[in-house]
Amino acid sequence: MAKIQAIRGMNDILPTESPTWQYVEHCFQRVAHRYGYREIRFPVVEQTQLFKRSIGEVTDIVEKEMYSFDDRNGDNLSLRPEGTAGCVRAAEQHGLLYNQQQRLWYHGPMFRHERPQKGRYRQFHQFGIEAFGMPGPDIDAEVILLSANFWQELGIADSVTLELNNIGSAADRRAFGVTLAEFLRAHSDRLDEDSRRRLDSNPLRILDSKVPATRELLADAPVLADFINAESVEHYTALKQLLQGCDIGFVENPRLVRGLDYYNNAVFEWTTSALGAQGTVCAGGRYDTLVEQLGGRSTPGVGFAMGEERLVLLLEELALLPDEARGGVDIYLAAVGDELTGQALAVAETLRQELPGLKLLVNCGGGKYNSQMKKAFNSGARAAIVLELEHGESAPVTAVRLRTLDDAGDSENIALEDLPGRLREKFEFLT
Ligand code: HAM
Repeated sequence: MAKIQAIRGMNDILPTESPTWQYVEHCFQRVAHRYGYREIRFPVVEQTQLFKRSIGEVTDIVEKEMYSFDDRNGDNLSLRPEGTAGCVRAAEQHGLLYNQQQRLWYHGPMFRHERPQKGRYRQFHQFGIEAFGMPGPDIDAEVILLSANFWQELGIADSVTLELNNIGSAADRRAFGVTLAEFLRAHSDRLDEDSRRRLDSNPLRILDSKVPATRELLADAPVLADFINAESVEHYTALKQLLQGCDIGFVENPRLVRGLDYYNNAVFEWTTSALGAQGTVCAGGRYDTLVEQLGGRSTPGVGFAMGEERLVLLLEELALLPDEARGGVDIYLAAVGDELTGQALAVAETLRQELPGLKLLVNCGGGKYNSQMKKAFNSGARAAIVLELEHGESAPVTAVRLRTLDDAGDSENIALEDLPGRLREKFEFLT
């Protein structure tokens, strides 16, 4: 019978890979907590309407990328394509927003039916930050500083660039959209098909087009910067000053418009040239009207999301994985002879209690000394503890052999009662 395979664009994360993922996740959690952000968890499935109303009806995500279905009750549901909408829904539903400030983070799988390629998947994972109730540029600066702190922690600060833009208010963009559409309509023969379709529905998205002829035409098009309201300009200018004051470098990218409709004022992306076409590792901005759009009282918000797959790829690409991301065990415990199986398990339990930081793998399934040592080497452990009866001795043993699993292969005999103390002395990581 044919074997069932995983769905295209949805990846398994294998035991050899998961230590890297855990390492990145621990780092993110540590950084988020360092800035006083608290974790929120919300469902993977929501009403489809939530995403339509927040991300926007005329966006790639809603038009063609959502996994939507009718459930058994006939409700139209979708797998979440991003986290901001669900985060706002949850925070609003539980009364976390009105008249309050909230600093939240989340992590988990998101789903988009995109064309899979390196760095772009149909199930992918995001780290997200959302801060509510703070209208000033200080919080925009804080979320950007938090992301920069995370790059430092991962060691990739020199490989990412911060791009900034001010996209003004929805009214600014509407006014700009009318002028832009007028200009483009006059040259519609030079537009690609997707862009032509967007002329009426969402002309700003045309700015994102990768088609060369469209890009050429856009070089002479009106620019959004000329349509931004004074308050937005002030906010954006203050943000840039705050970032400069904290030594965060950035480049301004007037073409940065984001693919989701809920943004206003400052938007940003962190990009890298080390990953090819999918080089955006983090993206976000301010969204002051989203809470109201979803039925809550007007509450300002700002946040970002990072693609975990892209961060893992980047760390691998730059060979920046520390020992911590290596995973594996510290010590392999071997017992030669069936009569020692029970004692081996008991010794292992004692060690686990006395040395809670120890990662200990016990040989199961018996085997000769050599075959157990082979398994010990393959486990990646630094040392093996061997229980073995000397000639004429009977179980239980009172001493074990400790053998390092490096080229030197040093070996020493240790009385059982001295074992935890000796391991502590020998292996720094256990203290
Ligand atoms: P986004 O730009 O759609 O924004 O996604 C954020 C990041 O998620 C991207 O920069 C990328 O690193 C990663 N990502 C997106 N799609 C994929 C994919 N198909 N495969 C792999 N990685 C992907 C948002 O999702 C907003 N909710 C961000 C935000 C939060 N804005 C404010 N708060």
